[in-house]
Order: sequence, then structure tokens, then C-alpha cells
Amino acid sequence: MSQLFERKPIADLVEETHGAHSLKRTLGAGDLIMLAIGAVIGAGIFGAIGTAAAGQVGPNGDVIRAGAGPALVFSFILLGGACALAGLCYAELAAMIPQAGSAYAYSYATLGELVAWIIGWDLILEYAVGNVAVAISWGDYFNTLVSGFGVNLPVWLRTGYRTALLSADPQIHGLLASAPRVAGLPILVHVPAFAIVMVITWLLLRGARESATANNIMVVIKLIALGVFIAVGATHINPANYHPFAPNGFRGIHQGAAIVFFAYIGFDAISTAAEETINPQRNLPIGILGGLAICTLIYVIVGAVLTGMVRYTELAVADPLARALELAGFKTVGWFVALGAAVSMSAVLLVFQYGQPRIFFAMARDGLLPKWAATVHPRTRVPSTTTLLTGIFVATWALIGDAAETYDLTNIGTLFAFMLVSIGVLVLRYKEPARPRPFKVPFVWPVSLLSAAGCVFIMYGLPGTAWRRFGWWLAIGLLLYFTYGFSHSKLRRRA
Ligand code: ALA
Repeated sequence: MSQLFERKPIADLVEETHGAHSLKRTLGAGDLIMLAIGAVIGAGIFGAIGTAAAGQVGPNGDVIRAGAGPALVFSFILLGGACALAGLCYAELAAMIPQAGSAYAYSYATLGELVAWIIGWDLILEYAVGNVAVAISWGDYFNTLVSGFGVNLPVWLRTGYRTALLSADPQIHGLLASAPRVAGLPILVHVPAFAIVMVITWLLLRGARESATANNIMVVIKLIALGVFIAVGATHINPANYHPFAPNGFRGIHQGAAIVFFAYIGFDAISTAAEETINPQRNLPIGILGGLAICTLIYVIVGAVLTGMVRYTELAVADPLARALELAGFKTVGWFVALGAAVSMSAVLLVFQYGQPRIFFAMARDGLLPKWAATVHPRTRVPSTTTLLTGIFVATWALIGDAAETYDLTNIGTLFAFMLVSIGVLVLRYKEPARPRPFKVPFVWPVSLLSAAGCVFIMYGLPGTAWRRFGWWLAIGLLLYFTYGFSHSKLRRRA
């Protein structure tokens, strides 16, 4: 029992970041804020926001979730507060343990090996599965973009099988019957979603520095696109659209928050770059909290403008910002925002495809995953094997998956990891009070407990299917741990 909860000494974690199996330090505070914005503003604000405002209905007319309506701005404020608390906890641990592997590495040092494995396994939901949703949303905006040039892919080449299966729209659901078939199976694939993931993977294989530069350019473009949306949309607000303000009361705000939480995921992702950061003790907290503050402000403004421009019931579409502009008569501006959306989501894909292989890398270095997963390319110093495998996994799922379904799974997994990180801060304060902390959470007891409680509360707003799938995911993870990681763990072997 005590072996299961054996903790990795923090000194070991810091030691590992030197030596042959280590990554190159190239990123500064500015790069981190850019990485944070690159990871955060994406499919959540360009795609999931529509479902959060309008709610969601299944093919049989059953209500899957209640919409927040214009009260969506409260969902954002609620989430901004909860994420700031979790962000403080991440910052304390990230600055103390500046190592690739994010919450996985922190929990290894605080809550022991079993919890670390669970978090590492869980983070696959945040990074890889999250990117499935982003890739699909990217593909949807891409289709809007190219249709502006009169290019329209056949619907069966731009709709995933799961999307057709779950859609309440008879035309999309009807694809199940009308799509071409091979060996009796309907061919329903999202080719643009697949293609973008493969392109991003190729970029990452060329090295982290080039990718960070590409990210900086994309961040500037996304801020311009959202700025244009706000400036143009604000001239077209009809106060009547704000009535009713909260059509489903607090339930709508809560369930809306549970899906649009996706828009906040990512500020923690920059902690996976800790091992590649110059002076992480100072730069990590600045990057995490600075990025989060900027994004919350932007979301509240976008939410207020969007629900003021059109009735919230019109927003249940794949490209709500472009649609709202189009309905308001600004078709060209809508097209421009769609371009910005596609660029923004490319940046998100980049950061998450970058983070996932580094988590696998850290787990393999500890012996919890096979050794080949810890190989670093001799020239680029990129964990190339895991980068490629992550690319293939995400691209294939995006080819046939559904966005809303993957948002839910990602959110529940991420919130669970945030909760464990918040508790981890307290545990470490108690167990190793004297260890130097370059950044300390203020009022640590109320902040970390409120953070953990906030995460559970938001999880509670997700549909039952998300909870059941999450349970299965954890069960499979435990099976893998007890059949492989438990016997191969370097920490235990050394002991
Ligand atoms: N927060 C990121 C997005 O919205 C994951 O795309």
C-alpha cells in the first residue's frame, strides 16, 4: 500500500532536467504569456460558446444541457474565478518543480506514484482528446472559409460519423442513411480536421523554437480577429436580445459553464514547458496568471457582444461568431473572423500537440511507460516518437469524432486534474514546509480548498454520459498501471 503512494523526491525532479534525457531551455516570460494565449483562446470561444448559450438537444428531442442565454457572461466570470484559484495552485507547483510533465510531475512529488499515474492518464483527456475537439472545430471554420470562395467539400467528407449520429438536425442525422458505404459502413469523415493535425505534427517535429515563433504570430492574428468581432458587433447590439437574460436560471449558467470551461483550458499547459523555460521560478507564475487575466476579460466582452447581437437560440451552430456577424449583415467581417478563428485554433492545436508528448516523455522517463517513449531526437531535442504517435491518435479520432462529446470528456478530465493539483499544494505545504517556494499561493487554505471545490462544482454541471465515460477511462488507466507501470517504475526499482 505504501509503495503505491511512494513520492518522488523533488531534488530528483530538478536533477533530471540536466543530463542527456533533457530538453533545451529557450523560452522567456513573454513567450509563456504568448503560449498561454495561444493555448487558451480557441475552440471554446469560437465554437463551444454557441452550445453554452443555446443549450443542446439530442436526435430524439431530449435535452442534453440547458443553455445559459445572455447570462453566459456569468458563466465566464464564475469560470475565470475558479481558474484563477487553480492557476495560483499550478503556479506554486510549477515554479517549485520546473519540469516537463505538468500536473503529472507535481503529483508524483506530492501525492505519490498512483495518483501521479492517474493524473498523467487523465491529462491525455485534456491534451489529446481536447485537441480532437479543437481539430473538428477548426475544420468547421475552415469549411465556412473556403465556402466563401465557392469551394464546398461533399458533406460526407467534412462530417464525422459521431457528429451525424448525435445531431438533432435531420439533414446531418440523415447522412447516416445517405452517405457512401464501404462494406456496409457509412463513410462519414472530417478530412480537414485530420489534415490540420498532421500538418501541426510535422511543424512540431521540426523543433520547439520554430513552433514558438509561429505561435507568436498566430496569437497576434487571433487578438485582431476578436477585436474586430467586438468592435463591429458592438455597433449592432439590440437590447431586446438580453431578455430573458437567464432563460434557464442558474441551471443554465452552471451547465453552460461546464461546457465553455473548455475555453479556459490551456493556461496550465504552459507549465509543461517548465523544463524549456529560462528562469522558470519567475517566469512561470507571470505566464500563467497574466495569460488567464487577459483571456477572461476578452471572453466576458465577447460573450456580452455575441448574445446582444442575436437571440441566444440562434447560436447552436458550429461557427457562432461568424454566424452572428452574418445574421447582422456583416458577411465579409464574418468571413474575416472565421479566418481568425481557424488561425487561433491552429495555435491551440500547436500548444496541446506540444504538451502531450512531453507528458508521455516524463512518464516514460520514470518507467511508467515503455522506454522508447522517452527518446529525444538527437538534433532537434524534441521527443519525436511520442510527438508522432500523439499526432496519429488525435488525427484519427478527429476524423470520425464529434466536438461536443469530446468537449465534455476533456472538461471532466481536466477539472479532475485541477482538483488534484489544488489538493497537492496543501499536501506539500504540510509535508515539506521548509522547501523553497519561489511563488507561494496567498491564503493557501481557503484558496486551494475553494479551488478544489470549484472544480467539483463545475464537473457537476456536465451530462451523465461524461461521468460514465470518465469512470471507464480511469478504470482502463488503473488496469494499465497494475499490469505495466507498477513493475517497471524506476522509483520502486531503485528502492
Ligand atoms: N481553451 C482551448 C480552446 O478553447 C482549449 O480551444
